Amino acid sequence: MNKRYRHAIVAGNWKMNMLPSEIAAYADAMQAECVLPNRTRAIVCPPSVCIPAALAAFSGTKVSIGAQNMSEHESGAYTGEISGGQLADLGVQAVIIGHSERRIHYRETDETVSLKLRAALAAQLQPILCIGETLHERELGIASERIALQLKTALSGINAKQMREIIVAYEPVWAIGTGQTASSEEAGSACAGIRAILKDKYGSPVARNIPILYGGSLSIQNAAELFAMPDIDGGLVGGASLSPKLFAKIVMAAGQD
Ligand code: PGA
Repeated sequence: MNKRYRHAIVAGNWKMNMLPSEIAAYADAMQAECVLPNRTRAIVCPPSVCIPAALAAFSGTKVSIGAQNMSEHESGAYTGEISGGQLADLGVQAVIIGHSERRIHYRETDETVSLKLRAALAAQLQPILCIGETLHERELGIASERIALQLKTALSGINAKQMREIIVAYEPVWAIGTGQTASSEEAGSACAGIRAILKDKYGSPVARNIPILYGGSLSIQNAAELFAMPDIDGGLVGGASLSPKLFAKIVMAAGQD
């Protein structure tokens, strides 16, 4: 990563794991392992029902809390949904938008993702916008086209000032939860491609300040190599973030010079 322009960010996506009653112990164990390095940010994204417990457990620490999803609507008759305003009111700072599991299992389209992105910004939440190609798209040789389409559709109507609030996460779908990581060169070049698109749209001073994270089977074994790539500014960590010890180690790896 290029620390001259960007902070390192490591976000943990717990997915549908952990109980509210387990969170205090997780926070203690993570705090015991982790001395947050300078210019490094850690975000924990628990399931919505665990958010109040996570906010309490991490209060007074430098770890911020994010959500895994939110509604594209502000309020109203949307049974079971949670709005950005409700998350922000709790004290949540960030929200994952467009994770591939939501795109695949809950049929979120590029257009829905774009609406959610705008709703998150309107609610003063920092979006972590996930994009990435499937194995099929990769095999067809259209990975960069797919990434560009997802990114450009999500960012339609987003101005430079709003862009400065957004974190982008490149998560190749074939690498998520599979133990198969993109090589650091592959991931680095995809992230460089993403930054080039941001530069075309918003200019260099904006593009060089946007954090771009890698996600997909990120572990303590591959973290340092991935974080050494100039356009990878940290990670979105799934499985490994369920262990407070491993997550702390990955956060510290991101902070190393
Ligand atoms: P993984 O998940 O680290 O378990 O592959 C990453 C993610 O889905 O954000």
